[in-house]
Amino acid sequence: MTRRNFTLALGAAGSALSASNVLGANDKVRTALIGAGGRGSQDWETFLAEADFEPVAVCDVYTPFRDRAIQTAKGKPSGHHDFRQVLERKDVDAVIVATPDHWHAAITVAACNAGKDVYCEKPLSLTVAEGRKMLAAARKNNRVVQTGSQQRSGAHYAQAVQLIREGGLGDVHRIHAGFQRNIYPGLKPAEFDAAKLDWDFWLGPAPKVAFDPFRAIYNFRWFWDYSGGQMTNWGAHHLDIARWILNADAPTTVSGTGGRYSLTDGGETPDLQQVSYQFPKAVVTWTASEASEGKGVTLDICGTKGTMTLLRNGYKVVPEQWPVSPGSKERKPAMKAIEVKGGDLDHQHARNFLDCVKSRKRPNADIEEGHRSAVMAHLGNISTRLGRTLTWDPVNEKVVNDTEANKWLDKAYRGNWKLV
Ligand SMILES: NC(=O)c1ccc[n+]([C@@H]2O[C@H](COP(=O)([O-])OP(=O)(O)OC[C@H]3O[C@@H](n4cnc5c(N)ncnc54)[C@H](O)[C@@H]3O)[C@@H](O)[C@H]2O)c1
Repeated sequence: MTRRNFTLALGAAGSALSASNVLGANDKVRTALIGAGGRGSQDWETFLAEADFEPVAVCDVYTPFRDRAIQTAKGKPSGHHDFRQVLERKDVDAVIVATPDHWHAAITVAACNAGKDVYCEKPLSLTVAEGRKMLAAARKNNRVVQTGSQQRSGAHYAQAVQLIREGGLGDVHRIHAGFQRNIYPGLKPAEFDAAKLDWDFWLGPAPKVAFDPFRAIYNFRWFWDYSGGQMTNWGAHHLDIARWILNADAPTTVSGTGGRYSLTDGGETPDLQQVSYQFPKAVVTWTASEASEGKGVTLDICGTKGTMTLLRNGYKVVPEQWPVSPGSKERKPAMKAIEVKGGDLDHQHARNFLDCVKSRKRPNADIEEGHRSAVMAHLGNISTRLGRTLTWDPVNEKVVNDTEANKWLDKAYRGNWKLV
């Protein structure tokens, strides 16, 4: 039954149910964008290219970005300042949440409770406790929630994961992920019109601080109250792929080191960080370096037969050289070299979300996967900040025998903001 005939059949009752009704293959998914900055505008353009996508509202606490997104959608959507007004609307089926990380949980939980499906950017949460509540809200309300980890919809990622899981690289016990660049001495504030930003609303559940243009647009990533540095920025992507490859929910121990040593731009999160995750039969390592050796993005999956470098633009396998016979000095490749090109991840990920909104199936980067990968990143940061190894209990989502570390799994919200 499509939305249209469902509403017709039920008359007035149909409109009361319209937020959680059943969409047919030809129905359009009426969607609002919440957070129309850098990533929000990319997501918006990606979704606008889909024929069954209908832009109905744009919400941002910075008016120029809100107006820009309305224009991109040819003036069709209405503009909002307060996301709660968007969630009250009966003509909104789904929301895209592309705000800074400290808003992801409050908006996603409220959207699920209002019967909306959600495409929420990565990292899913700011804390472990938030992620758990987001997952509970999604399941309780039977909502489709896709995390913005677009690699999960990439055909070449799925192919690589299958190849590795089937033993194509031999035994794989080591995965190394990293993001290394040199931005010394640091980044500058984004250029924007501060008079058009509602700073108090931007802060929302985060502690009240005086307006700081460096924090506001894009650079919130380098402040603990809003995000988790490169660990939750690029790390959340890579750790998600590592967990997918290993088919594992969580590490058993996490050991992080590093700090903010070189950059002088006022940010707080590490500019050098090294984290080691122990899985039952594998070690995953993460390196972020912001002020030396600009190698860029790396994700290397190291097997006994070969090493795969798996990136957005494709993957490449370099074979190991094995002795032709035991003890021989002569060597031959343990496998064939492979090179596969990547595709457009963003469109495939948006398409998967819209399809799942209609089919009610779990999306490729279901909220539970997003939650587990964000947990890995949060634990990396907690271990680094406390300067000790954490043992993780994934069932109860607690650090074993560490009261202080467990306090870091949650954060108080300011004023009346709550996760309900
Ligand atoms: N999937 C990816 O590859 C990818 C890439 C980049 C960013 N991201 C994620 O997207 C999110 C946004 O990052 P960005 O770089 O676009 O940041 P940004 O600062 O450019 O944009 C964030 C926007 O959210 C708005 N905002 C803040 N609070 C709001 C609220 N309560 N209601 C409505 N709007 C609000 C801000 O005014 C701003 O316009 C982050 O979580 C980031 O990790 C994902």
